[in-house]
Amino acid sequence: MEPVLEGTVALVTGASSGIGAAAASVLAAQGAAVALAARRKDRLDALAADIREQGGTALVLECDITDQAQAAGAVERTAAELGRLDTLINNAGVMLLGPVVDAPLSEWQRMVDLNVLGLLYCAHAALPHLLRSAQDAPRQVADMVNISSVAGRAARNGNGVYALTKFGIGAFSESLRQELADRYVRVSLVEPGATATELASHNRPEILESIRSQFGQRIQAEDIADAIGYIVTRPRHVAVNEMLIRPTEQVR
Ligand SMILES: NC(=O)c1ccc[n+]([C@@H]2O[C@H](COP(=O)([O-])OP(=O)(O)OC[C@H]3O[C@@H](n4cnc5c(N)ncnc54)[C@H](OP(=O)(O)O)[C@@H]3O)[C@@H](O)[C@H]2O)c1
Repeated sequence: MEPVLEGTVALVTGASSGIGAAAASVLAAQGAAVALAARRKDRLDALAADIREQGGTALVLECDITDQAQAAGAVERTAAELGRLDTLINNAGVMLLGPVVDAPLSEWQRMVDLNVLGLLYCAHAALPHLLRSAQDAPRQVADMVNISSVAGRAARNGNGVYALTKFGIGAFSESLRQELADRYVRVSLVEPGATATELASHNRPEILESIRSQFGQRIQAEDIADAIGYIVTRPRHVAVNEMLIRPTEQVR
């Protein structure tokens, strides 16, 4: 049987580690040519080599998507070099936790710049391509999958600005879903719970210590990638709007 995404092109932001890298591998295994966007080129090169070794097609895009021109450039290079764009996985994100009082403003700026503006820059540049692909063979449907978080559903003491960015992604995704539903660009929201990736490692040492003591069971990046793969391989008439995925033992 032909892989479901054969003949399509996907762009994954934050593909150099964690959920993004795992998602890119899943999409490539389903037959999509994948564009891999992030800042660490060595990581992207290694993933691309791995995908090519499995018979897939991969394009490395070294970029910082908090820069609007670089975000748009990544989308345009994908369409130019791989021929089209059917699937955008808006995954790149940063989580800097801790009390609001006396928080370094630079941490808030980093989260808003990447989680909100970076995602919006990519979405804005990708939409004309997604709309075109949705009218076209082979699938006549296109996908934008936005990676939110459990923190996009429930704010907690200590995650205020991270939750703000993820609630914002949820609002944007639902509004855009309604706007595009009859044009067959499906907009989906994925809300992972605690997942074993590099995400927490960017926190200040004192914050990291308290995060470690809170974390119990964690799922793997591949578990979330599996969900992303499920969403984008549904038939044209099925849209998975939202998926909340926690480790079984995670209560909050
Ligand atoms: N892990 C969890 O428990 C969890 C839970 C809920 C939601 N999430 C969400 O899942 C998404 C992926 O996170 P992850 O857990 O896989 O963490 P991760 O391993 O830290 O991955 C983050 C990715 O974002 C990329 N990135 C960071 N800044 C960038 C920039 N300016 N431009 C382009 N790419 C950039 C990083 O690559 P470079 O550094 O190479 O640029 C990396 O590939 C995030 O949106 C996160 O909020 C994760």
